Amino acid sequence: DGELCLSRSLVNSSDKIIRKAGSTIFQHSVQGWKINSSLVLEIRKNILRFLDAERDVSVVKSSFKPGDVIHYVLDRRRTLNISHNLHSLLPEVSPMKNRRFKTCAVVGNSGILLDSGCGKEIDSHNFVIRCNLAPVVEFAADVGTKSDFITMNPSVVQRAFGGFRNESDREKFVHRLSMLNDSVLWIPAFMVKGGEKHVEWVNALILKNKLQVRTAYPSLRLIHAVRGYWLTNKVPIKRPSTGLLMYTLATRFCDEIHLYGFWPFPKDLNGKAVKYHYYDDLKYRYFSNASPHRMPLEFKTLNVLHNRGALKLTTGKCM
Ligand code: CTP
Repeated sequence: DGELCLSRSLVNSSDKIIRKAGSTIFQHSVQGWKINSSLVLEIRKNILRFLDAERDVSVVKSSFKPGDVIHYVLDRRRTLNISHNLHSLLPEVSPMKNRRFKTCAVVGNSGILLDSGCGKEIDSHNFVIRCNLAPVVEFAADVGTKSDFITMNPSVVQRAFGGFRNESDREKFVHRLSMLNDSVLWIPAFMVKGGEKHVEWVNALILKNKLQVRTAYPSLRLIHAVRGYWLTNKVPIKRPSTGLLMYTLATRFCDEIHLYGFWPFPKDLNGKAVKYHYYDDLKYRYFSNASPHRMPLEFKTLNVLHNRGALKLTTGKCM
């Protein structure tokens, strides 16, 4: 019926089995992989029952006026004021309106990309989605440089740009954004309290430097809708990771979705250590309950979809 049909046992087996990240359950052959177009259409249709990515990818100017008070999506007791700057950066219409692509790349940030030589292949897709403003230039051979849509959790300001404490941090940030030209910069500003100052600084820098990026701020219902879709398909995700959110959104716009940089495990299939991010030394407890994400379960789900031809997952070297 086109639903994912992930069996209960598959999902329930989650963490214990996933710990054996060297085992064959993660193997997916890239050779002989073929797109299953009717499954792609079914999945798109099913996801559309939960969200319309064209609309939910961003709130628009007419959604709010400056001074409006909204409740955070994952922290309903706390509120945020829509500032003038934020309001002025809301798009007039969805930045993804009427955009359709034959092939798209969704690039996750796993260290599995290092030494992959996938840069050219990634850049050859019609639309390239990246996560959390990950650096590309120094890693171009493995990750490519093209970027049409890039996400930025507010925490990135602290993590990668020193909290904008020095002029040089701000310059580095402005430089990174200026390289994006007019691609979409997607900032989940309404999820949880904590990052509002960072979002305001980002907004101010974009305005001050007249940067070309097309800012987008996901709708208040997006995350619940995405969770709802996966839950209905028996994939119990507490909070979808950015990568899974991007795949879910991309099903609306892309006929063929290729995933790179998805590997939430500390070792590769040969037992070699894999960095959590290809570009920094962040450590991650893949199986910790403290983490908001269930990336190994997400990965397993994406692997099933790969094997059924709904998407293509590349975790090895590109030819
Ligand atoms: N990812 C992965 N394996 C990793 C690291 C990342 O599969 N070792 C994928 C995940 O789907 C993740 C995406 O790449 O969402 C982008 O990585 P990151 O920037 O770390 O994503 P976040 O979801 O924002 O993670 P966090 O909330 O921990 O910052």
